[in-house]
Formats: sequence, C-alpha cells, structure tokens
Amino acid sequence: MHAKKNQKIVVLATGGTIAGTAASATDHTGYTAAQLGVQQLLDAVPALNDALQGDALVCEQVVQLDSKDMDHATWQALAQRCAHWLAQPEVGGIVITHGTDTLEETAWFLQQVLETTKPVVLTCAMRPATALAPDGPQNLFDAMAVVRHPMAHGVLAVCAGRIHNARDVQKVHPYRLDAFSSGDAGSRGWVEQGNVRWADPGSWPLRHANAQQALERPVAQWPWVAVLHNHTNPDARQVHALVAAGVQGIVLAGTGNGTVHHSLLAALTQAQDQGVAVRLTTRCAEGQIVGAISALPTAPRGLNAFKARISLMLDLMG
Ligand code: SIN
Repeated sequence: MHAKKNQKIVVLATGGTIAGTAASATDHTGYTAAQLGVQQLLDAVPALNDALQGDALVCEQVVQLDSKDMDHATWQALAQRCAHWLAQPEVGGIVITHGTDTLEETAWFLQQVLETTKPVVLTCAMRPATALAPDGPQNLFDAMAVVRHPMAHGVLAVCAGRIHNARDVQKVHPYRLDAFSSGDAGSRGWVEQGNVRWADPGSWPLRHANAQQALERPVAQWPWVAVLHNHTNPDARQVHALVAAGVQGIVLAGTGNGTVHHSLLAALTQAQDQGVAVRLTTRCAEGQIVGAISALPTAPRGLNAFKARISLMLDLMG
C-alpha cells in the first residue's frame, strides 16, 4: 500500500528530550529538555524532504516544556490545535513531538477527545539532540512514515522503530532507546528503512490458492521442501545432496537480516539454476528480512523457516 500524496502534514512541537541539549555530547542524563524549536528538529532530519514525496509540512511550536510539567491547560491547547488542523481537508495527519515521561498520558487524552479518523502520531527521544548518536531525528523520520501511511489512523506513538496504540503504550524504561512497550497487546507495527510494517496488515488471504490440491493430492506426491540453516562453517554438500536426491524446494533460514555464507549461497544459486525453488528467511526469532538483500528470493510475509516451508510446498503444488 502506498503512502498518501500531496497532502499537508502538521508538526506540533511541545518540547521534551527530543528538543533537549547538553553541554557534552556524551551526556545523556544531565541535559535540559525543551531547548530547540520545531524547525531545528526538522532541520536535523536531512532525508525528510525526499521521504515526504511532495507532501507539505506545516509546523507550530505549541509549547516548550519538559513533559514532567505537562498540565491540563497545555493538553487543552494542544487538543484544540489538533482539532483545528484535523478539520482542514488538505491535512493528512499530525506529528507531535513530546517528552517521553508523560507521552502515554497525552496520547490517551488526545485519543479520547479528538474526533477524527486521521492519524495523530506522537514521537519523542530518549537522548538529547546534542548526543553523539541522538535518536530524535530517526524517530521523527519514522513518525513521518507512519503519519503518511494510508492504514494509519487514530492516536499512535512511534519510538525506536515501534508503533504503539495510545491505549496500550507505556514508558517502561528510564534510559534505553526502546523505552516504550505496549505490554500484552504488543506493538501495532514497526518502521524499517522508512517503510511501515503493520503487525496486522489486514489484507492477506487466509487460504492458499492451491489449498484444494493439498486436500486431494496423495501426500506421497506432495512436493519435497527441505529447511536448511546458515551458521558458522556450513557445508554446501548438504545442498548438493538434497538436489541429487530430488528436492524440489529449499527454505534457508539465513543469519541476521538473511545473510548466507558464500559457500552455501553458491550452492543454493546453483540449485536454483537447476530448477529448485529457493526461499530465504531469517533464523532470528523476531522481525523479518528488511530490504532486498540477497539474490535469493525472500519468503513471503516474513514467515519463519518452518511456515515458509509449508507455503512453498503449497506453491509448488500449483
Ligand atoms: C520529557 O519528558 O520531557 C523529558 C524526558 C524525555 O523526553 O525523555
């Protein structure tokens, strides 16, 4: 699904660590929150214009405070600014920069009082803007990807590549960058390389196109699909042996983001050339391969190796 285009995105700034500064780049705790203005926050994200793909940005400094000092009057003013902008037809959504300490409260308040289906995305930072490696610019960049996504609606929070619902988000760590959790509900989604991946994409067909074949074909005639893993010093002879024995498909659980030892990659590429269907996934228990990183085709939908084996077997029944 492609991002909406030629709309207005409004950035409302409220302060927080994302706008904080310290005397030293290595100081992550002894800083002063709410020092930089909204334009300075946006200027720190050089890739922003490309990512906006023609969308216009409007920004407003609603307030400049450390969110420990958030109060009802500020909430009301912020909600009124949100309501004002959301009522404009050309506005696609709002990004709010906010301190992490009370972000979850503001998110829920806004969710409760705003009447809109447009997205309102709160984002933040755990390190001040002056840190050696500040997290604010990336979080702001990610929030832009979420606010522009056609499936985004309601009040969301984006931090450290995770998307949270206003209902579930909670700050759970006082220091680490990935400071928020949605508890049992889990993240609504993730932002990877500027792309949004929803936990529930909503549009996958549940039944495989070749399902009927699996119900009717004798199991002895089901395609043979094997699972292999990449690891230190893998032996490519296992691929050759499988091909010689007549394997029709191989799912490889690669290391990390789907990396494959060069000897195994050569053997799998050769197997592909010989007509074996090869799919790549990751042996990591969480996440999925991001980007097109290999000559080998990636298993669909971020399936793990064992589920990718089933899908490939069904594919090959067609
Ligand atoms: C704040 O909540 O404004 C300061 C702390 C933070 O943003 O991490």
